[in-house]
Amino acid sequence: MTLSRIIGLTTLTAMTALLIAAKPSKSTARKIESVMKRMSKPQKALKKLERSKLFTSKDFKNNIALLVKENKNMLLIKHPDAEFNQLSKDLNKELIKMMTLIAKKDPKAIKKQWGEIKNYCYECHDTYKED
Ligand code: HEC
Repeated sequence: MTLSRIIGLTTLTAMTALLIAAKPSKSTARKIESVMKRMSKPQKALKKLERSKLFTSKDFKNNIALLVKENKNMLLIKHPDAEFNQLSKDLNKELIKMMTLIAKKDPKAIKKQWGEIKNYCYECHDTYKED
């Protein structure tokens, strides 16, 4: 193998590792975990309310407000992957949009927006949640 080939391969390997596994530091990982743990309760409550179609209930609004609050904490966390930070920002936008739809009390629009929000949760979990 020529030297330039070795250098080329090494660079490629390093770049791939960066792309695939930009792991957060331990303290960042702990912060993410604690925010996500606090999203669990509102998530479960919202699932139940969705099943009962209680999209315009006070409970639905209060639990979305809890997600808004926790996602604000997510925005303070700086992950080494730009995509992760972008997903937190996008989720924030969708949650704020949800608050305006809730204010308008339009169950159909709220239901649709809840679907959008869940897509952001799943999208990030697919890439960054281990297990
Ligand atoms: C920007 C990325 C990202 C977004 C967006 C995101 N999550 Fe997470 N979530 C994670 C990661 C990473 C973990 C794994 C954390 C760990 O346990 O180390 C996780 C774990 C969780 C867990 C398990 C927590 C536990 O008990 O260990 C719940 C519940 C959860 N997320 C709910 C949500 C909900 C609900 C949303 C959307 C409203 C959401 N997440 C959006 C990244 C994200």
